[in-house]
Amino acid sequence: MKWKNTAITKKLRIDYPIIQAGMAGGPTTPELVAAVSNAGGLGTLGAGYMTSESMRIDIEKIRKLTDRPFAVNLFVPENAEIDADKVSNSNRLLRPIREKLHLGDPPAVQQPTLETFRKQLDVVITTQVPVCSFTFGIPDQSIIDELKDRNIRVIGTATTVHEAVLNERAGMEMVVVQGSEAGGHRGTFAVPFAEGMVGVMALIPQTVDAVHIPVIAAGGIMDGRGVLAARILGAEAVQMGTAFLTCLESGISEWQKKLLLNHAETDTVVTAAFSGKPARGIRNEFVKRFDPFAHLFPVYPIQNQLTQDIRKKAGKEKNPDWLSMWAGQGVGMSKECSAAELMEQIIMEIDRFSL
Ligand SMILES: Cc1cc2nc3c(=O)[nH]c(=O)nc-3n(C[C@H](O)[C@H](O)[C@H](O)COP(=O)(O)O)c2cc1C
Repeated sequence: MKWKNTAITKKLRIDYPIIQAGMAGGPTTPELVAAVSNAGGLGTLGAGYMTSESMRIDIEKIRKLTDRPFAVNLFVPENAEIDADKVSNSNRLLRPIREKLHLGDPPAVQQPTLETFRKQLDVVITTQVPVCSFTFGIPDQSIIDELKDRNIRVIGTATTVHEAVLNERAGMEMVVVQGSEAGGHRGTFAVPFAEGMVGVMALIPQTVDAVHIPVIAAGGIMDGRGVLAARILGAEAVQMGTAFLTCLESGISEWQKKLLLNHAETDTVVTAAFSGKPARGIRNEFVKRFDPFAHLFPVYPIQNQLTQDIRKKAGKEKNPDWLSMWAGQGVGMSKECSAAELMEQIIMEIDRFSL
């Protein structure tokens, strides 16, 4: 098997079938994205929470650092009803933490609009980003067509075979299958979240058998062994998040990198307590205290808005108890190195198998 020449390396014009996941909220600095692309993979800017202005600035920076292809990742907006009872439950339960962190009144929640997403897409189009990936759903057909017409490659996210089929039917050119091992938010959109908790080893071959578009495997892949395993199961590329979090170029704070380097496979948990959407991260005080009440909290992104200043303040105070630290079950394999070194190590490990 030629591990590095795949349908995806051809489509994306990259040297190695390794995609650094778009990770919204700060980890994916222009330096990280460019370093991965310069090393022959595909770097991705996690733009889900970014304003169109900051996206434009970061895309410009990426272009100054690399002339290789890169991607931008966006969140497909969801219809979130503001449930007043759930908002007040959440505020009541979170009050002691707000007091502990000397925070004022909770923020007023805002109904998400389509406007932000449209502005983000306009930046992707006007700056001619080579690849655009999506999670949390499938954008409207007109958007997929618009991007493809502009020669922008489109990638969807699925957590079940059925969701991958829906992505293919909608015209996505490639699909990420996100196993239950994965760090960060679940991309589940067409089935209940519990049904979307399929391990990547089961998910890859069953998806490959069901769709014609190339499959990208995500979840727990941290080194050359993981990349090869995914390739053997039929994936045409991998998408890795956690492995890049502790890289020198990653935007998370140094103290958080050190913390991640000291965690093991048993230390992560999927919880909806932080944002209203299930996501895998380190089990800390916040999770222990609020996960049992997650069903009383409002849905994403309303709960995310309610916990935002708590997470921010905890981050400022270097307090790991009250912030979300997304990471996958492979966290115990995290390394402290540059993105180029990580890429090099992965490639060397695979070459050792002489495939
Ligand atoms: C810190 C963090 C943030 C993430 N943010 C996003 C995101 O913004 N968009 C997205 O599509 N996936 C996001 N993910 C999920 C990744 O795309 C991918 O599914 C996951 O990282 C794969 O599992 P791994 O972390 O074990 O490599 C995030 C993952 C992590 C660890």
